[in-house]
Amino acid sequence: MDENNAPENNGYNFWHNRCLNGQIGWHNLEVNPHLKSSINFFDQSGSIFIPLCGASVDIEFLLKSNFKVFGLDISEKPIQMLEAQLSSYVKNTSLNLQTADIFKYHPSETELCDYWYDRAATIALPQNLREEYYLSVHKFFKKQCKAIIVLLDYSKGLKINSEKIGPPFSVQSEKFLEGLSKNPSIQYKVSESVTIHSETDHKKLNENGVFKYKETILKLIINRRDI
Ligand SMILES: C[S@@+](CC[C@H](N)C(=O)[O-])C[C@H]1O[C@@H](n2cnc3c(N)ncnc32)[C@H](O)[C@@H]1O
Repeated sequence: MDENNAPENNGYNFWHNRCLNGQIGWHNLEVNPHLKSSINFFDQSGSIFIPLCGASVDIEFLLKSNFKVFGLDISEKPIQMLEAQLSSYVKNTSLNLQTADIFKYHPSETELCDYWYDRAATIALPQNLREEYYLSVHKFFKKQCKAIIVLLDYSKGLKINSEKIGPPFSVQSEKFLEGLSKNPSIQYKVSESVTIHSETDHKKLNENGVFKYKETILKLIINRRDI
């Protein structure tokens, strides 16, 4: 990672330049398989908050599955792409897209969501912002909220601190839950936690001694204490 362009502050330059230059290795052409296999955890309708949404194809999948979606990203480019691709959903108000820094955005009452889907959001944030995210993400939730969280942990075998090579950063599910536990405005229950082990040929990870990683898919039931 270029230290002079690191995403520690709000990350705008870092992420916007990557989006403009097409350095979007995180962007998948297929719907996330863990989302597909976990979607029944969400009830059949309701609104889903997707922080740091990029131009994810998961959004169209969720809209076609009859959910409303609220996607937020700091960079204009992915939001403009989604607005063009999914204009009919924007027009009929099933899709709310905002170009904004998640840490500065104040959702209106009507933007509060029933569900939270996090894929490549937590792991895109460096430690200092990740801690802030754990403490503030509840502001997007209704009183009761369910979450599907996809985490990546490649710390095993790593020669250096993952903070030096991310994003994506390596985030253990225990650390994620510990961070969320520090948020006094919510209480949560882990409904399910599934871990999948895979091998990677990612050059940067291999160079740092990492050949295997694990993904954990957490399903959470969250209650807000502050509303
Ligand atoms: C790794 S990408 C993941 C995109 C998407 N979740 C996906 O699965 O394809 C991370 C995204 O977070 C956005 N981002 C980074 N920092 C942000 C912030 N402070 N507020 C809002 N979006 C941010 C970036 O612009 C980028 O599109």
